[in-house]
Amino acid sequence: STPRTFRIAAVPADGVGKEVVAAGRAVLDALAEGSRGSADAFAFDWEEFPWGCGYYERTGEMIDAGGLERLKDFDAIYFGAVGWPTVPDHISLWGLRLKICQTFDQWANVRPMQFLPGVQSPLRKADDTHLDWVVIRENSEGEYAGLGGRNFSGRGQGSEVAVQSALFTEVGCERIMRFAFDLARTRDRRKVSSVTKSNAQQYGMVLWDDVFKRVSADYPDVETESVLVDAMSAKFVLQPEDLSVVVASNLNADILSDLGSALSGSLGLAASANLNPERRFPSMFEPVHGSAPDIAGQGLANPIGAVGSGALMLDHFGLPEQAARLRKAIETTTAAGILTRDVGGSASTEEVTKALIDALSS
Ligand code: NAI
Ligand code: MG
Repeated sequence: STPRTFRIAAVPADGVGKEVVAAGRAVLDALAEGSRGSADAFAFDWEEFPWGCGYYERTGEMIDAGGLERLKDFDAIYFGAVGWPTVPDHISLWGLRLKICQTFDQWANVRPMQFLPGVQSPLRKADDTHLDWVVIRENSEGEYAGLGGRNFSGRGQGSEVAVQSALFTEVGCERIMRFAFDLARTRDRRKVSSVTKSNAQQYGMVLWDDVFKRVSADYPDVETESVLVDAMSAKFVLQPEDLSVVVASNLNADILSDLGSALSGSLGLAASANLNPERRFPSMFEPVHGSAPDIAGQGLANPIGAVGSGALMLDHFGLPEQAARLRKAIETTTAAGILTRDVGGSASTEEVTKALIDALSS
């Protein structure tokens, strides 16, 4: 029988994004290859796009005019990382990644913290405590709504004024919270921690708190807590075993998830999904890390964040057993000590990729 085929748009973009997308594609293709002949056989049909900072330098645009329209037809987008020192970061990020997230209403950003065997966490607690939590980031509004202006006051250089506003809507808060509660119901620990800074930000974040209280009433079986973001960053370090699902605004969750992935050993391990849960548009899967210009092009990039993002993509396609196979291969590889430099090893991107592929067939 013909395997179920998923059409994937690969957008490696910049720096290590190119290296980890190549690695992720190789591992995902090996997984698909291994499914041949089985009842749930599947395949990937990839198309790769050249957008990013190099493209910007050539054309003056981060993505071509019809680009977003073309992406619409794919089952998913597999993204690397965008950003390069030759282009201001706010131009590259808004011009490509945030544009895709916002156009395709990918309002739920899922970022599981990956504590892996063989990878040392800077947390001593991680040695003998099972740590497993996920950050749910509101991905459509909040502090990244892009609302504001600069130098509109007419004051000259040296006295410039800028305003950057955060946007919170009841609909936006409610949908991300329901998403977090629904996810909590699928986990061993049914708990949602809501994060704000509502003591200082008395409009948007108080709305967030109010919606959280209202929504939580619909989930009496799920434990809840509301924690301020400063206290939550301390809790990530001191009491992470008390966390299961952490839901936070765009900026707060962005920062907390970098902290969480650093605590698991490296930013290079962290996977993420930018979901359009209604499936009106393709969702996008990408490692949490950026383009890492400091190590780009040297074969040093850790591919595990990108490969783990592939597992999230398989979950999204309704292939949880395949996702589990991929995660198992990641654990087998790290447990065997085949690690890139960021997690204390000396293996290259290519060696880790090969080990992941070997682990799939063992
Ligand atoms: P970064 O995530 O690129 O790098 C931070 C540190 O983590 C660096 O020391 C880097 O070497 C290390 N690192 C990152 N990924 C790694 C991997 N796969 N393996 C091993 N080590 C890894 O963040 P930074 O330096 O703040 O930003 C660099 C560029 O990336 C900027 O242009 C920024 O705007 C962009 N960026 C893009 C993101 C995206 O496309 N989603 C997310 C974050 C940053
Ligand atoms: Mg970030």
